[in-house]
Amino acid sequence: MDYNILNEEMDLHFGRNKETVTYFAPGRINLIGEHTDYNGGFVFPGAVEQGIAVSIVPNGTKRVHLWAKDLQQSTWFDLGDNKMPENMHFRYVYGVVCELMARGVKVKGFDAVYMGDVPLGAGMSSSAALESCFALALNDLFDGGLDRMTLARVGQAAEHNYVGTMCGIMDQFISLHGREGSLVRLDCRSGEYEYFPWHPKGYKLVLVNSCVKHELVGSPYNDRRRSCEHVAQLAGVETLRDCTWEKLEELKSQVGEEDYKRAKYVLGEYDRVMAVCDALQKDDYETVGKQMYLTHEGLSKDYEVSCEEIDFLVEEARRCGVTGSRIMGGGFGGCTINLVKDELYDNFIATAKAKFNEKYGHEPVVYPVIISDGAHKCEA
Ligand code: GLA
Repeated sequence: MDYNILNEEMDLHFGRNKETVTYFAPGRINLIGEHTDYNGGFVFPGAVEQGIAVSIVPNGTKRVHLWAKDLQQSTWFDLGDNKMPENMHFRYVYGVVCELMARGVKVKGFDAVYMGDVPLGAGMSSSAALESCFALALNDLFDGGLDRMTLARVGQAAEHNYVGTMCGIMDQFISLHGREGSLVRLDCRSGEYEYFPWHPKGYKLVLVNSCVKHELVGSPYNDRRRSCEHVAQLAGVETLRDCTWEKLEELKSQVGEEDYKRAKYVLGEYDRVMAVCDALQKDDYETVGKQMYLTHEGLSKDYEVSCEEIDFLVEEARRCGVTGSRIMGGGFGGCTINLVKDELYDNFIATAKAKFNEKYGHEPVVYPVIISDGAHKCEA
């Protein structure tokens, strides 16, 4: 990303660029462990090179001015004013500011311009990148002293309390903790995490974006979470992490068919993450891939967060001999994540593009995955 553009935009909109600081926070991929974070389970994400960058300068007032370059839109609000911006998009930033202040950070008025290259609605978590970028930048700028895990919780709380998506912690966590060349296994119950170097010799990871817009706000995402909480409550456990297969079977008639299917997926996903961890110790990428396909099946049939276009892409991947393929992220559109042998890569990409175009009238967009560092300050 060309950070100079941010300075030009700062000049143009706020008339000064000398004392600005610039921060960057990435979007993410997730190898496996989908819809497990809010169920106290494991996730296996990595930060990507695409992200959001913000340039900020304190303005000596109580007012916050924002210019979102990609949207070509601006807004302002006064600190301590509890009137949320009307435009939903700005509530992510407003929410971060409020949540930082609620944790004692003395945020003062500032001007900020930001832009990004995480495709919106692709399931790569552009919103967490935005939240994490502002959370880290403001915490540094105003000496908040909060650690990165707390900053991740700030972003998550912004999303819960100001946007209305009851997301888990995965996206904000990885945006702030990513490391170049490593995936991270996070235990969402204990908060413990471990870096796993990711250099699958002979394989590539690639995202294929169906361009079906994934919008978690107002999507059935929150319904899925409610189903899981319902089953957990009946099982007498805090989250599904602590629900056994036996207990779920025992409750089958009580929970209802739909919630049973949701919980069945979540329990299965816990086992699949474990199988992937074992396989990775042995560099057994064929097993990793098999588990990815199984995850897709669960997400499509039991959790019901896929869509026709995505199922089509996964089937094409299977036909092309791709090792593993599945829908990634919250669902309802967005990208598939694919683990592909080097020698099959070109054919897979060409076939997926052509077949998808033939059926849906436009080509999917392809992003090779480069596992990158988490949020950081950008040196001028
Ligand atoms: C979205 C949420 C995450 C997680 C995923 C599904 O990206 O923000 O917390 O629940 O969906 O794994």
